[in-house]
Amino acid sequence: MEPGNVSGTARGEHVKTALTWPVQYGDNSGAHPRLLEVKVEFSTKVAAPEKLACACIAVGVFEAQKLSVAARSLDRAAGGRIHALLKSGDMDGKVGTTRLLYHVPGVAAERVLLVGMGKDAKLKPRDYREAARAAVAAILDTGAVDACLYLAGVSVSGHDAAWKARQLALAASDALYRFERMKSKKPARRSLERIVAGIESKLDAPGAERGIAQGNAIGAGMDLARDLGNLPANVCTPSYLAEQANKLGKQWKLGVKVLERADMEKLGMGALLSVARGSRQPPKFIVIRYRGAGKKDRPVVLVGKGITFDTGGISLKPGAEMDEMKFDMCGAASVLGTLRAAAEMKLKLNIVGLIPTTENMPGGAASKPGDIVTSMSGQTIEILNTDAEGRLILCDALTYAERFKPQVVVDIATLTGACVIALGHVCSGLYTDKPALARELLAAGDEAWDRAWHMPLWDDYHEQLKSNFADVANIGGRPAGSVTAACFLSRFARNYDWAHLDIAGTAWRSGKEKGSTGRPVPLLTSFLIKRASDD
Ligand code: BES
Ligand code: MN
Ligand code: ZN
Repeated sequence: MEPGNVSGTARGEHVKTALTWPVQYGDNSGAHPRLLEVKVEFSTKVAAPEKLACACIAVGVFEAQKLSVAARSLDRAAGGRIHALLKSGDMDGKVGTTRLLYHVPGVAAERVLLVGMGKDAKLKPRDYREAARAAVAAILDTGAVDACLYLAGVSVSGHDAAWKARQLALAASDALYRFERMKSKKPARRSLERIVAGIESKLDAPGAERGIAQGNAIGAGMDLARDLGNLPANVCTPSYLAEQANKLGKQWKLGVKVLERADMEKLGMGALLSVARGSRQPPKFIVIRYRGAGKKDRPVVLVGKGITFDTGGISLKPGAEMDEMKFDMCGAASVLGTLRAAAEMKLKLNIVGLIPTTENMPGGAASKPGDIVTSMSGQTIEILNTDAEGRLILCDALTYAERFKPQVVVDIATLTGACVIALGHVCSGLYTDKPALARELLAAGDEAWDRAWHMPLWDDYHEQLKSNFADVANIGGRPAGSVTAACFLSRFARNYDWAHLDIAGTAWRSGKEKGSTGRPVPLLTSFLIKRASDD
């Protein structure tokens, strides 16, 4: 691909367009339109809220005219101004609402933002997240250059200061995220440069600082995952993903190796290669390693589905919303984002990321329904539907994972539309037959507010994958489509502890808010943080 040009089409000819873009992630060199990065730092500060000099201070207020501790301090300094405002009925304290006040007497900050916290003094985790997000969104609407969120004092059921601080940083990073790289006009520069989390007690400082460092790292990992997901498939090709992995490796001292088609042939990855046959883009198999523990420490292996565009192949998908199949590499993106976060947090753990990546295209050489291929494991597979391609690339990656003698393997894939029917967009589908591992991943999802739900993986479902001609078929019919996909994968993951996350419903949003979510980077990083600290 020629740098700076959008190129590569279904027919493979290079198309030069009048528009040139930076095709490198974060490469803003030359005359290309620049990505305006608002680098917002997040830090902690212990101080009395009324004395904090900044452009905007945010404090919580509850329904029924109740004030949080921080709001009460401001109110006292301001001679009851805040309470009077609540009495007037102009701010009802509902979660997600905010009210901006200027030049409040006795308060050092230029603006005071009242943030609705709902009815109960003890917030639900979801409401805390929503309140924090709304606060940052409201601050972004002002001309404030810096802001202080004094929201860590309110209590959230089941969570400590570190959790609240982490969620503040994540809510901020979520509210601040924009994907404007493909717009020809420079977006207006935003004024906000710095956010500080205010805390009332010195005792909370170490926890809050740790939480914010984690939140910043996870947020940056999510941003990377979101950027890769949002990039169009003519830019984000398998080669592009490999380049980005190399770049990430250089930035964070990760070991990166990219296997080419010939390497995959030698390894006997017949299932993965069968998907790549219809595409002009060469497939890649990315191996990316983070070493945070001793050489002998067995790694956690993360395997991410990297279909950079899923047309369905010869079993062509219908046209409606097909553009969203550029998000079919969000599993791969989440692996890269998670590795970035782990490296920034310096987790004491070894992690291997495996990313099989290719397009799934129709074409003269493409696999046809009924074709039989031999996977790296030796099992033969009858491809009854070329649109069930994710499991074909993942099964060879799962076999390849064996060589790392993993302590655990987790694969992450936008695997089935059936998972979206089963669980919607709220949680990811979790499959594993190891109860302790299921508990661990579910807890990580709860704690990160990036939840998953344990689905069955019983032998009974394997029946549906029987083939008349090969060892196994790649589809199991319409009933329990997400379960049979997981059952298919389990046949290749018998030699280690394994879990599968179907993120088809959670990796991106459709409609007006269309875009990648960065999930399940929070779940995965929580899982890794816990594994690293337990060892
Ligand atoms: N990438 C899709 C899964 C998908 C579809 C995710 C729609 C999100 C929204 C996957 O490769 C696929 O096409 N799966 C098929 C499997 C079927 C042919 C057994 C599906 O879900 O329809
Ligand atoms: Mn498909
Ligand atoms: Zn797919």
